[in-house]
Amino acid sequence: MKYTGKSRARRRAVASVVGYAVYFICIAAVVTVVLFLYGRVQSDGEGNKGLIAGTMLGCILFLALVCTLADFLRRKFLVEKPVSAILNATGRIASGDFSVRLEPSHLYVNYNAYDEIMENINRMAAELSKTELLRTDFIANVSHEIKTPLSVIRNYAAAMKREDLSQEERHEYAETLVSAAARLSSLVTNILKLNKLENQEILPKKQPFDLSEQLRECVLSFEELLDSKNLNLDCDIDDITVVSDASLLEIIWNNLLSNAVKFTPDGGKIGVSLKREDGYAVVRVSDTGCGMNAETGAHIFDKFYQGDTSHAQEGNGLGLALVKKVIDVLGGRISVESEVGKGSAFTVYLNGERDE
Ligand SMILES: Nc1ncnc2c1ncn2[C@@H]1O[C@H](COP(=O)(O)OP(=O)(O)OP(=O)(O)O)[C@@H](O)[C@H]1O
Ligand SMILES: [Mg+2]
Repeated sequence: MKYTGKSRARRRAVASVVGYAVYFICIAAVVTVVLFLYGRVQSDGEGNKGLIAGTMLGCILFLALVCTLADFLRRKFLVEKPVSAILNATGRIASGDFSVRLEPSHLYVNYNAYDEIMENINRMAAELSKTELLRTDFIANVSHEIKTPLSVIRNYAAAMKREDLSQEERHEYAETLVSAAARLSSLVTNILKLNKLENQEILPKKQPFDLSEQLRECVLSFEELLDSKNLNLDCDIDDITVVSDASLLEIIWNNLLSNAVKFTPDGGKIGVSLKREDGYAVVRVSDTGCGMNAETGAHIFDKFYQGDTSHAQEGNGLGLALVKKVIDVLGGRISVESEVGKGSAFTVYLNGERDE
């Protein structure tokens, strides 16, 4: 059986009517007994005004005592107990303890308003502890990613002060410094972009543009890298115009291509294609690189995740997180096929294809 909020509210209304009825019957019973006693005293002790007044006072005091006791017990168990538990829990949450969880005093079907407040507090605490965990994880990851290139820079800069360095060594050290600085700068740029996208500070400015042209230019910018690794390029790009945000899309192509180049060994092959499929503009970037196993595949869109540790120095594990975020913002989807040792293919389906 499914318990909805409505059926629970109905149960609660019925329970409170029953509660009031019981309370009413108790009071009525006490009053009846009191009146009965009063009648007896009046008929037995005729003329004894003192006894009648005393009995009346006793009856009134007794009635007041019963009412006070009933109200005390009701407050004690139905109001004070849950309120003090709630106060305690909210106090702990306010002081930063998000592990607090409250135990509602009724079964789910019989929840009263206090039980629902407790459930909401539990959900809030769980949400806050998740956010806190993400925040501390994020800080730990960023610190780690900053520390590694920084220590490279410090060590190599110190080494460059040595007088006895050959020209080649000096050149090699300078190259290392440049690449460590580039890694730091890409870390900062990617974090800022991700942050802005997540906080919706970057809103897509969609307008028609030539996607095929953009892809060709992007591939061209990788020409030098492709040559240096002796990678073959297979381009099959149809002329397609889309209505989208060109500068955001560029982030996707750059990251997919940079991964394809990075994870493909010398002499491998990289494919880039753009096709029209079911109202989508479909871009596919494939490679004959190292590929990924299922475990890596399940995490590649997580921030700071790097599956292939042999290339860990060449990035921060933010590229695909950024790609995913951009696709979410623009509307579309991405799928991945990969086989260890054979290669990978990333396919992006973009909304906003424009018929010519
Ligand atoms: N084409 C690919 N072939 C094999 N593995 C890949 C490929 N693309 C991504 N991966 C895996 O996914 C992980 C995450 O990729 P992502 O682009 O987010 O990070 P990165 O390339 O390591 O660093 P960054 O992009 O920040 O420079 C990579 O570390 C790698 O293990
Ligand atoms: Mg990358």
